[in-house]
Amino acid sequence: MPRSLVLILDFGSQYTQLIARRVRELGVYSEIVPGTAPAGEIAARKPGALILSGSPASGYRAEAPLPDPGIYALEKPLLGICYGFQATAQLMGGQVEKAERAEYGTATFVRDRASPLFEGVPKRFRAWMSHGDEVRALGPGWTRVAHTSSCAFAAAMHERHPFHLIQFHPEVAHTPHGRRVLSNFLFGIAHLRGGWSMRGFLRQAVTEIRTRVGEGHVLCGLSGGVDSSVVATLCHRAVGERLWCVLVDHGLLRRGEAEEVRRELGEKRGLKLTVVDARARFLERLAGVEDPERKRKIIGEEFIRVFEEEAKKLGPVEFLAQGTLYPDVIESASAGWGAQVIKSHHNVGGLPERMHLKLVEPLRSLFKDEVRELGRALGLPDALVDRHPFPGPGLAVRILGAVNEPDLDVLRRADAIYIEELRRAKWYARTWQAFAVLLPVHSVGVKGDERSYERVVALRAVDSSDGMTADWTRLPHGLLARVASRIANEVRGVNRVVFDCTSKPPATIEWE
Ligand code: XMP
Repeated sequence: MPRSLVLILDFGSQYTQLIARRVRELGVYSEIVPGTAPAGEIAARKPGALILSGSPASGYRAEAPLPDPGIYALEKPLLGICYGFQATAQLMGGQVEKAERAEYGTATFVRDRASPLFEGVPKRFRAWMSHGDEVRALGPGWTRVAHTSSCAFAAAMHERHPFHLIQFHPEVAHTPHGRRVLSNFLFGIAHLRGGWSMRGFLRQAVTEIRTRVGEGHVLCGLSGGVDSSVVATLCHRAVGERLWCVLVDHGLLRRGEAEEVRRELGEKRGLKLTVVDARARFLERLAGVEDPERKRKIIGEEFIRVFEEEAKKLGPVEFLAQGTLYPDVIESASAGWGAQVIKSHHNVGGLPERMHLKLVEPLRSLFKDEVRELGRALGLPDALVDRHPFPGPGLAVRILGAVNEPDLDVLRRADAIYIEELRRAKWYARTWQAFAVLLPVHSVGVKGDERSYERVVALRAVDSSDGMTADWTRLPHGLLARVASRIANEVRGVNRVVFDCTSKPPATIEWE
């Protein structure tokens, strides 16, 4: 069990997951629960402290998701951020109204009095605000701690209880003293014990897998991606020879991907790995299919079929290891006012029931960055651990329209050049996901003295934290020029390269 637990009550802010991550980075384990969770449920988890998140809602509206007032009677150290501040102020006798002008961006805070929350923070400091409502009056027992030029109550504390409220967001990078404020809360006010780390998590996860699996056997689908590689390596450490891994090569992988998994996990680490060459099967079923959703469906069905066939050839298996991550778990837990719905893509959906397999999901409490850290703690190479997310249907959703082998070959070459140049320019790790897309149009060009009429490749690179929203990465022009020139010159069949500068929304990350 974690030594100290912080529960984050989620009211739907885009920053809730960031709060959880910041707290974990400070060495304290944290989890997200729905903001409206009953106080009894919260108490049963025995948290060391509570943090109330922001929200797109207005506390004074009837439909607003308010916390159970019973949480204040738990006497737990409590930090209310933005909406968490307003909702608390309102429930404890204060007054909240629409701000005269909404404030988005950094504001200068001026402290009016000392507070343990601001220990080591200058009297005037800049912090990130994003709010349309504000607290106009505090209830009895509360004291104002800070103000800004437009917000009279920008921070407050309770005189008797360990309750602290702030209008700004300490979790975002634009709040320079944010880390200090969170650390003051966790250690100075809530007196929590730190020390939660990936190494500790690793030891604990191995023990838990052993307990769950007992003498049983585990099956794990490998995709070449980070999550499944980490799950497999972790399970291997826990149950050794009783783990079977299956990689279905559907022919829609990037260049060298299947070989790399075979080398890194199979050969170097000795995982029992079967690579199934199902390329022909998938291509046959995809022939002539243009509709993206149909393509996804066909690939999903065929995947399960191949996986199941392979699994049956193995010995007895009772468990299926899956790389479910924390954002997928929160999605189902926080329905309603929780974080926005994330697409969850499980390649082997339906299989556990059909094969009567019990699930092993050792990454259920981790964020993507933490999975990478765990991968490093397990000794996996950077090239595997830092790999960008890759969709289950693979290159099939990056070739617009029908998929065939010659086009897959063109796309693989173009993509490999792009990724190679990104790595060389040290931009690979600075962008969240980057890839090439093959468009179904021909454009006129000139190669040598001859007119050409060839395909167009689009380059995509996005910054994101979870794939739900994304902005296009401002890659340097010189880098783009090199990539475009190399692709148009080296990849036969392509004479034009364009860069996609659309954010999500309104576009999505993948083109299909
Ligand atoms: P979109 O295109 O929806 O993508 O903005 C968000 C993230 O999800 C990945 N993605 C998928 N992953 N199966 C997957 O396993 C899919 O069908 C799928 N579609 C999109 C995408 O690469 C991005 O990281």
